[in-house]
Amino acid sequence: MKILVLNGPNLHLLGTREPDVYGLETLDGILARVEARARELDATVESFQSNEEGALVTRIGNSRGHYDGLIVNPAAYTHTSVALRDAIAACGLPCIEVHLSNPLAREDFRHVSLTAPVCTGQISGLGGYGYVLALEALAEITNRK
Ligand code: DQA
Repeated sequence: MKILVLNGPNLHLLGTREPDVYGLETLDGILARVEARARELDATVESFQSNEEGALVTRIGNSRGHYDGLIVNPAAYTHTSVALRDAIAACGLPCIEVHLSNPLAREDFRHVSLTAPVCTGQISGLGGYGYVLALEALAEITNRK
C-alpha cells in the first residue's frame, strides 16, 4: 500500500502556530508517527505540504496509478476550494480528510467543508493521531477490495 499525505497552507508552521488550537506537535513529528505506523502495516508513505492551491491540485491530479490512497488536510482550502474538491473527486482514490482541530467546534465559516463530500471519510479533532487513524482506515479499505 502506497499512500500520499497532503497538507495545505500554514500546516508547515505546526508547533508554533496557535498551539492552543493545534497543539505543539510539528508537522515532521506527525509525519514521523505516520511513517512508524506505515512500517508496521507494510505500507509506504510520501508527503507533500504546500501553501498553494494549484500545487495541491496538481499533486492530487497526478496521484492516480501511483498511490492506493490519499490522506488530505486541505487546511483553509477545506472551506473555499472547489478546485481541490474536483481534484479529489477526479482522482478516484480513497481519500481521508483530516483536521487537527474540530472545525465544527470553531467559527461558523469552518463548519462547511467543500472537500469532505467527495472523501471516503473525515477525522477531526484528534490532533496528529488523526493522521495515524487515517492511515489505518486506508489499510482497512484497500484490504477489503
Ligand atoms: C485545519 C482546520 C482549518 O479550518 C484551518 O484553516 C486549518 C487547519 C485543522 O487541521 O484543524 O488551517 O484544517
